[in-house]
Amino acid sequence: MRAGSQIVSSAAKLPDSFDDRESVEAWDSAADAWEEFVESGADYYRTEVHGPALLSTCGDVRGLRVLDVGCGQGWFSRQLALKGAQVTGIDISSRQIENALKHEERSPLGIEYRIESAAESAGLWKPGSFDLATGCMSFQDMADVGAAFAAVRELLVENGRLVISVSHPGTDTVHREWELSDDGSRLALKIDRYFDTGPRTVNWSMERLVSHWESPAWRRTLTEWSKLIAEAGFVMRRMNEPRPTREQIARQPALEDAARLPMFLIFDLICDDRS
Ligand SMILES: C[S@@+](CC[C@H](N)C(=O)[O-])C[C@H]1O[C@@H](n2cnc3c(N)ncnc32)[C@H](O)[C@@H]1O
Repeated sequence: MRAGSQIVSSAAKLPDSFDDRESVEAWDSAADAWEEFVESGADYYRTEVHGPALLSTCGDVRGLRVLDVGCGQGWFSRQLALKGAQVTGIDISSRQIENALKHEERSPLGIEYRIESAAESAGLWKPGSFDLATGCMSFQDMADVGAAFAAVRELLVENGRLVISVSHPGTDTVHREWELSDDGSRLALKIDRYFDTGPRTVNWSMERLVSHWESPAWRRTLTEWSKLIAEAGFVMRRMNEPRPTREQIARQPALEDAARLPMFLIFDLICDDRS
């Protein structure tokens, strides 16, 4: 379950797999609601927790050629460009790219956007075209993340890095429910079925969204993520589990869960020179 979204219960019929076409359908149909969610500040986990942590994990991006993979309407691409990176954003959804281009037209930052599946991007660029690749909550939504990792690996320079955020595998479980006290306050998060992995339907049903939709995603254990990462020829530099500060929670009390438990995980990966 994403912080603030819901996974269809494990009792519901789950798909065996999904493909790029289904991702396009879901993210095209969600494009305008996503734009509103991101830009209105309603996605406070992004603006307060995982977004700033992803950016700081990238380090100094000034002058770097960065590929933002699964860029959506370009929120993170713009964060990178504002820090001096030369950014290209790719996304499989033409409607998301349309919205990203509207931002670029209104406030140009020199970002190039292209409609591309990450899994097929290797053939579309020269090897070594980028110094850094990023993915803001996008890799878990890809139908073939192994192919996406391998493609990005080819597009990076020798010591290139891939820095991505995902829902935390330890708390994004199939069964997940807050145990509440009599006064309704949260006592503990009950988590189960950690090892149930595979395709999931994410139900974007929170009240703070202007409309609701479902999107396909993969749930993975930490072991599965690390296997995919190693097989694609990356090594882990570090992981980061961002959490909000007390001041942030005072401003936005809903963030409290992310201070008690890890809701997001950032992988900081570098091309393995032995592969
Ligand atoms: C949760 S959204 C995140 C978007 C954006 N990174 C952000 O932070 O707002 C996931 C995005 O991944 C994109 N996506 C899914 N599969 C993809 C693929 N194979 N290649 C490129 N983008 C993909 C979707 O179209 C969607 O825009």
